[in-house]
Formats: sequence, structure tokens, C-alpha cells
Amino acid sequence: MKAAEIRQSFLKFFESKGHTIVASSPVVPGDDPTLLFTNAGMNQFKDVFLGFDKRPYTRATTAQKCIRAGGKHNDLDNVGYTARHHTFFEMLGNFSFGDYFKRDAISYAWELLTKVFKLPEDKLWVTVYAEDDEAYEIWNKTVGVPAERIVRIGDNKGARYASDNFWMMGDTGPCGPCTEIFYDHGPEVAGGPPGSPDEDGDRYIEIWNNVFMQFNRDEAGVMHKLPKPSVDTGMGLERIAAVLQHVHSNYEIDLFVSLLKAAKQIVDAAGAGNCDPESPSLKVIADHIRACAFTVTDGVIPGNAGRGYVLRRITRRAIRHGYKLGARTPFFHKLVEELVFQMGDAYPELRQAQLRVTEVLRQEEERFFQTIANGMEILEAALAQKPAVLDGELAFKLHDTYGFPLDLTADVCRERGVSVDEAGFNAAMARQREQARAAGKFKMAQGLEYSGADTTFRGYEALLTEQSKVVALYVDGTPVNRAVAGDDVVVVLDHTPFYAESGGQVGDRGELRNLRAHVLVEDTLKIQAAVFGHHGRIVEGEVEVGDVFTARVDAEQRARTMRNHSATHLMHKALREVLGAHVQQKGSLVNAERTRFDFTHNAPVTAEQIRKVEAIVNAEILANHATDATVMALEDAQKSGAMMLFGEKYGEQVRVLTIGSTKELCGGTHVQRTGDIGLFKIVAEGGVAAGIRRVEAVTGEGALAYLQSLESTVGTVAGTLKVTPADVAPRLTQVLDQVRTLEKEIAALKGRLASSQGDELLARAVEVKGLKVLAATLDGADAKTLRDTMDKLKDKLKSAAIVLAAVEGAKVQLAAGVTADAIAKVKAGELVNFVAQQVGGKGGGKPDMAMAGGSDAARLPQALASVQGWVAERL
Ligand code: ALA
Repeated sequence: MKAAEIRQSFLKFFESKGHTIVASSPVVPGDDPTLLFTNAGMNQFKDVFLGFDKRPYTRATTAQKCIRAGGKHNDLDNVGYTARHHTFFEMLGNFSFGDYFKRDAISYAWELLTKVFKLPEDKLWVTVYAEDDEAYEIWNKTVGVPAERIVRIGDNKGARYASDNFWMMGDTGPCGPCTEIFYDHGPEVAGGPPGSPDEDGDRYIEIWNNVFMQFNRDEAGVMHKLPKPSVDTGMGLERIAAVLQHVHSNYEIDLFVSLLKAAKQIVDAAGAGNCDPESPSLKVIADHIRACAFTVTDGVIPGNAGRGYVLRRITRRAIRHGYKLGARTPFFHKLVEELVFQMGDAYPELRQAQLRVTEVLRQEEERFFQTIANGMEILEAALAQKPAVLDGELAFKLHDTYGFPLDLTADVCRERGVSVDEAGFNAAMARQREQARAAGKFKMAQGLEYSGADTTFRGYEALLTEQSKVVALYVDGTPVNRAVAGDDVVVVLDHTPFYAESGGQVGDRGELRNLRAHVLVEDTLKIQAAVFGHHGRIVEGEVEVGDVFTARVDAEQRARTMRNHSATHLMHKALREVLGAHVQQKGSLVNAERTRFDFTHNAPVTAEQIRKVEAIVNAEILANHATDATVMALEDAQKSGAMMLFGEKYGEQVRVLTIGSTKELCGGTHVQRTGDIGLFKIVAEGGVAAGIRRVEAVTGEGALAYLQSLESTVGTVAGTLKVTPADVAPRLTQVLDQVRTLEKEIAALKGRLASSQGDELLARAVEVKGLKVLAATLDGADAKTLRDTMDKLKDKLKSAAIVLAAVEGAKVQLAAGVTADAIAKVKAGELVNFVAQQVGGKGGGKPDMAMAGGSDAARLPQALASVQGWVAERL
């Protein structure tokens, strides 16, 4: 049975038992901060198990895309070492939400395995949680599994409920005892039954886990009973396919056979030539392409943190394995095509994203191929010393300079039986973070102790408040009651018109004044979610907690910032219109000078597209729509179609900003009418990371200043060229053509000049013991002229040792030549090196002709003079 058929027949079986077939959720969990990646079929039903969410069905069945490469369930380090572990796999599951429980779950599982899949009963083993007599009895009495093939497993992982037979989604969340079904691949495979010392071998493979969901574990580890006992099961598609296709390794099933074949071809073509088709590295590559392609499909981009970093680690690990096989150019992304061919029917989103996925992986690969060779060389050199443990500092250097994630380095070391000093690595990392932190100390608003009331923000309607009271005061990060002129302070006010940096918009600047003191505020940052810290310096008087100030925002800077912020919303929408709906905001920075906006898109934005975006935004500005900001329930905002940021957590009440035709959730400050923005102009476009572009734009006075500066540049150029601005381009082309022609002429003349010098030089050759020796400078010669002249002189002098030099500034170029009859005694390579060393350089080459350079032209005459003696010694 092909894997695709197994998937189908599983879903159909449970459909026939009253289950609703539900589509796989993305591998990136939509709204669960406790999870890095979807790691089980039950994830999308977590809230249903907990009783927070209801579905129109009480029984469901899915084939779920899962990733186990980080977090509680992590199989990354097993991939390539066992026959059954993957970073990406498909989990077939059936679920009961307070409907059936242990008895039905067990009998459905047994029926499917023995009646539909027709597995021999005596090949099946089961485990139950040691305390679960009920499950034991059902297996033994109702199903008839003999006692010798039922294993009770207790808390075998060092704590209460820490057991192979007590399943938890993560450190918190739904959990419960489970019963697992194992398949015995037969005595020819190494390994022992579950619970035995050899259980980790590949003989007895767990194929299906049935979890009896009964508890919700909280952060303190306390188990709360779930409203209704439920069932969550998971069967690895790849493992059951191996059983049904009569192979012992997941990598031999149909899905993988074609992927492995494609991987070999692609790696071979990338430089490996003809790699071993059985190499574990090919398996790692075939496994990793699935994880990487599905992760990118669901919106992740390689990066330095969180999910992006997991993706980067897996990608680079795959690349390293290709490199090990001999690949020297990007290959990994080329596997996407075969993967789509294999899995695009079951997961149409993969097919849809094919081009984007290929491109994102290709870019990541190109990046890593720039450093991998040097990094591997360093690592190989260290391993050649045969250490027992690889130095942590070195592992950190590989990480920091060559982009080697720690686990990649550990993977290489493990192949040689070497471990990595992780503590040393972490210490080096911590040291670097500490240095970075010290450098950015002023920005460290977080981490200030504060336990008072929130700050009331008045800045949407006002730029000045009269009676703002100091509720907390800090000097050098420490709370104080009083500070004086000259102190750098952070001031917390009970209410303020200052906007604190968030949502990409910078914090306000301005001043705090009362009769006793004057504080210049340089930035405003959040200390806590709703507590604003005014960072600045007391320039006059003193400040005490309890003092009351007039707080005034720098209106000019705020107005410019607002123009840029409102324009960002318009630009975001225009980019989606022009480039497509795949454009997702990935970051933004809005300040008084400009707006910088990062978004997902694979190719440079063309000049034409930029013009279109500018036209759309400027049309919205000219329409002069009034802006509206309304606070509403998140649900209503969703209904209104307001744009939300992917992966962002929002509160229950949100602020919906309508600017022109855009509607977006935003806490920032904005213009009252779009016309306030003035002119909008994009000034830069470029790539910042694989699959991420950045545009920068200016508005209002910023746009005017930009145009004026362009105009003045063009004016200066036109003045210099003595034409009108309109004629600058054609005139410049003309001038550059002329320059090129002149350059050619000069080169030709130099050549001629130098070779005519060559003739004069003939006369200067001195005879030393029958050999002509000549050492001279050729004015204005380049390397080619030196060589040509050298050839001519050798021809003419017949038997000679010659050194020619050319000088440019302090730099010296040297050529040495020796005729064939003399090279037994005098070697050009040694001769040139002898001279070069005297002028601060080094060189060498063949016995008859060698080149070198130096950097100290002042010592050249002396060096040339020494040639005759040096040659004489050798004759
Ligand atoms: N959620 C259970 C598992 O992943 C079925 O093993």
C-alpha cells in the first residue's frame, strides 16, 4: 500500500466510525505561544480538550503535518542515526472530545490494524501506563492480547507522571496516560521489546499512541482534571507505511525512495560526482527538505531567533551533509520540486508555495555556501588534533563568524566521536551578549523595577499636559527619590502626552518643566506594557518623586513621525496591491526622518513597481480622507476586515485605524487627514534577508528635502559638465566614452614608451662571469609591460639575469627573469624574492620568470644595486 493510500484509508476508516475528517493545521501554530511548532495532531484541538472551545463534532480524524525539531518533542539529533525518526512527519490521528474513551479507542485501533491493515496479531505488542489497570484489562480480556505482550511502564523518567506512557503536549496543557502499540520487525533487526534495556533499537517500533486525555497541567506542574475525559491518538504515517510495505526503515517507503533518489542526483550534480546511495547524509537531506519546505510554506523565514532559527539550523545541517558528500554549489532547494511531486496532492498549500519555498531556501543556501568552506576547514583542522572535546570558544567562533549553529558543529563532531564543550560555548555567547548590552545601555528601559499604577497616555489628543506627576525616578537603572542637574534619568509620570516606542514608531522627545527644574527628554520607552519611561537629562534644578511637571512633546518631530507612520499604512496596502497578497509586514521603523518597512517578497521591487506604489499612496494623500481611530472588541475588528499582523498577540480591546482605504490594528499616532502627509516618495529598496525586502520612504518636509538635494546634485553635475540638467545624461555618456578611449590610448603609449626604454637598458647590462646582469626601473610600466619587456631583453641579451621594477607611489612591482642556460645556478624566483624582501614585500615563481610586489619604493635603488653581487655569488 502506498503512503497516500494508507493516509486515505485511515481517514476513511474513522469517518465510517462517525468521525469528521478535519484538514491538517499549519506547522506553525496560529495562537499558541507555548508551542514552537505543531508537534502532534491534537494541537489544533487543544482548546477543545480544555473545554474553552467547541466544535460542531465530538469525533474527528486528521492527517497532521508535524515538526519535532525543538521544544519538548525534539527528534533532530536522531535523524540519520535511526530508521524511524524525522524532523517532519505526518501523524494520523483520531480524537474524541468527551465522546468515547478507553474501550472504543482501543478496539478501533485494533480493528484498523488487524482487520483493515491485516497485520498479524502476534507481531503486535502494547504498553500501558503502570497504574492503568483499566487499559490493561481491555487489552488482555476484551481484545485478547496475551499478557506476555502487554508491558506496564511506570514513571521511568525521573518524576511523577514523567513516563513514556504519560503523554504531555508541552510543559503545560492537556495530558494523560497512554497506551502504545508496537510492531515487531523480526529478529533480524537489532533491538528489544518496550521496557527492556535494548528498547531503543529498530526492532520493536512504536507505531501508534493512544492518549487518554484527563488532565490539564498548569505552570506549577499541578494536574487539573479536564471537564470531560477525551481521546487523542497519533500514528506516524511513515512508520506504519514501513510495516505495510514490508521494509524495516522509514527511509525505504515509497515517499522516501523517490526523495532519496532525487537527492542523490542533485547532490551528484552539485559536485559530488557519484556519492554512495546508502549514505546516511542522503537520508538527513531527504528528511530535512520536508521539514524546511513545509515550514517555509507555513510562513517561516530563516532567521536568528525562534522558529526562523530552527529553520536555519535544519537547512544548514542539510547543506552540511550535502557538502560532506561533495556538493560545492547550492543544491538543497532543488529538491522542492520532487517533494511537491510526492506530497503536493495531499497538501496543496505546498504546491501553491513551491516557487517561494524554492527561492527562500536557495537564498539561505547561497548565504551559507559563502562561509561553509572556511568554517569546515577550521573545524577539520581542530578535529585533526584529535581532541576528546571540541573547544567551546571555537564552536562559538564557528557560530558567530561562519554561521555554524551549535548543533551543526556537534553533528560533525559526533561523526568523529568528539563532543562539544557546550558550557564554554554558552559562556562565550553570554560574554558577547553582555558586551552588546553594555553598548546599548541607554536603550535598556526594560528591567527597571516598578510596581505602581500604569501611565495614562494622553498623546492621541494632546501634545502637552499640565499636571503630570512623577511617580518613579531612576538614575543608572536604580530607583531614587531625588535627582539633580547633570543626572541621566528615567522619569515615570502618572499621565503623559509622550508616545513610548512601540509598533515600530519611535518614542517622543520633548521636555518636562516646572518652576524648580527642566528635563530634556531624549526618548520615551516602555518599562512595562503600559508604563512609560521618559529618558533624558536634568539640565536645570532637581527632580523629586511626587513633583508635578508640564510635559511638552516636541511637536515638530511628532508631526513628522506621524506623517511617516500614516504613510506606512498606505504603503503597506499599496505594496500588497502591486506585488501581491503574500506581502506580510516583517518589521518597521518609523521616525521623524523616514519610514523603513520590511516585508516578505522574493525579488527586488522593480522601478516600475515602486512608481506604482508611489502613485497609489499619493492618490490616497490627494483624496485627503479623514482618519478614524476606533477602539473595539478584537472580534469586531476581525469582522471589519482590519489587517492584523501574523503571529502578533492582541488584547481583547483593540484600536482600529482607518487611513484612506486602509484599515489596520495600530496603537500609533497618526495624521488627521491623509492630505497632512504631503508628498510621499520611496528613496531606497533592497534585500535584508532571504525572502525579505526593505523599502524606505520619506514624506512631507522629508520628501521636499530629498527632492531639493537631488536637484542640487543634478545642478552641480550639470554645471560641471556645462550643460542644462536635461542634457546631463547624454553628455555624461559621451564623456565616459571619451575617457575609455583615452585610457586605451594611454595604455598603448605606456607600452610603447616602456619598451623603448627597454632598448636603452640593453646598454646598461653588466657582464658578471660571462652572464649579463641588469637591474633597472621602467617608468610607467604595468605588470604586462614588465613581462613583455623582460621577454624582449632576454631575447636580446641571450644569456642574462634581469630584474625590472615599476613604481607607483610607494608601491613597487618587480619582475625577475633568467635565461635558460643560467637557471641551474640563478633562479628567478629566489632573485625576485631577494629584491622584494628589501622593499617590504615577498615573492617567488618559476626559475626563469617570477613576479613580486613591495610597498617601500624608497628602498628600491639600493635593492636594485644589490642584484649584481647576489648573482655573482651564485656563479
Ligand atoms: N498526541 C499523542 C502523540 O503525539 C498521540 O503521541
